[in-house]
Amino acid sequence: MKALEQRIQEDGRVIEPDILKVDSFLNHQIDPVLMQEMGKEFARLFANQGVTKILTVEASGIAPAVMAGLALDVPVVFARKSKSRILSDDAFTADVYSFTKQTSNAIRIDKRFLSADDHVLLIDDFLANGQALLGLKEIADQAGATIVGAGIVIEKSFQPGRQNAIDAGLENIHSLARIAVFEDGQVKFVNEEA
Ligand code: G4P
Ligand code: NA
Ligand code: NA
Repeated sequence: MKALEQRIQEDGRVIEPDILKVDSFLNHQIDPVLMQEMGKEFARLFANQGVTKILTVEASGIAPAVMAGLALDVPVVFARKSKSRILSDDAFTADVYSFTKQTSNAIRIDKRFLSADDHVLLIDDFLANGQALLGLKEIADQAGATIVGAGIVIEKSFQPGRQNAIDAGLENIHSLARIAVFEDGQVKFVNEEA
């Protein structure tokens, strides 16, 4: 998506060898206009596929997920994070290990908000190692829900997230921006998806 790529070029900052800071429009301050355009793009990519619900993980997944939910006219559920995995009859839970932060979080979704009748679209802000996506898949599987696909704002294609997701059986993964490499502090994109 051109507008997103341009915004990344203008406002993104490469920090450390492989981290892109985008806190001026996505991860801290949020640009609602850009966010809404991204929601419409997700709606276009996943139109006519019977999506009944969008799943994401707090915190940074919520903004793009809500805009996609608005455009697709379906509810949005964000998994909550907690330090430990307390098994409960009331919630679907999964463990998510963060390579970036080197910590593990449990994520949970209340059973009232996800069922076997649902056709879910998974949305997240970044695809790096794919652990968040795998956690959401695990939760959707526990519910017996059908996964329609996954929509990602920024994919770092030089990291194994997409392949890990495919290996776990996820199909129909669309990223609005795919980063091929960081070169001398500059972002180089993979050719844009149709
Ligand atoms: P994964 O889900 O793809 O496995 O991601 P990973 O463990 O590598 O990353 C952990 C956290 O770091 C995630 O946020 C992820 O979105 C974020 N992240 C990964 N790579 C980048 C990057 O290049 N830039 C930025 N800004 N963030 C990155 P989180 O822990 O879920 O935090 P939150 O922001 O949703 O609260
Ligand atoms: Na995230
Ligand atoms: Na994040």
